[in-house]
Amino acid sequence: MKTNRTFTMIKPDAVENGHIGAILEKITAAGFRIVSLKMTQLTVADAEAFYAVHSERPFYGELCEFMSSGPIVSAILEKENAVEDFRTLIGSTNPAEAAEGTLRKLFAESLSKNAVHGSDSDENAEIESNFHFAGREQF
Ligand code: CMP
Repeated sequence: MKTNRTFTMIKPDAVENGHIGAILEKITAAGFRIVSLKMTQLTVADAEAFYAVHSERPFYGELCEFMSSGPIVSAILEKENAVEDFRTLIGSTNPAEAAEGTLRKLFAESLSKNAVHGSDSDENAEIESNFHFAGREQF
């Protein structure tokens, strides 16, 4: 069943480059309601757990190292058709292939430093949201 929520992180590259405000503005302008929001820094172990689904991939070590290298902003977002619409808003995983106007085209540096995460399914949106936010932090 489709839900109306997705999970996102503004990744360490975009935080470091000062894009938090601009990215949140684009997200709310696109019609998403912020359900939960916080700035935090993952440990390597946190990142390994969050990205466990990628543990066999050759880039897993680099990914976990990068995602724990500095602060991130994590959020739960709400909108009809949230998962699909948010993936359209952020653009292709590789910013070189991302459409004009997408968050990754505007703010990402590279495939690994790609500025923004977006859940790839309703099921993962729920798992990822609950990884980052307690029930009392979800509004
Ligand atoms: P995201 O989809 O948010 O979550 C998984 C991340 O792995 C993805 O963004 C990329 O940043 C990263 N990733 C995917 N493929 C590669 C790759 N070939 N090399 C490095 N990082 C990658």
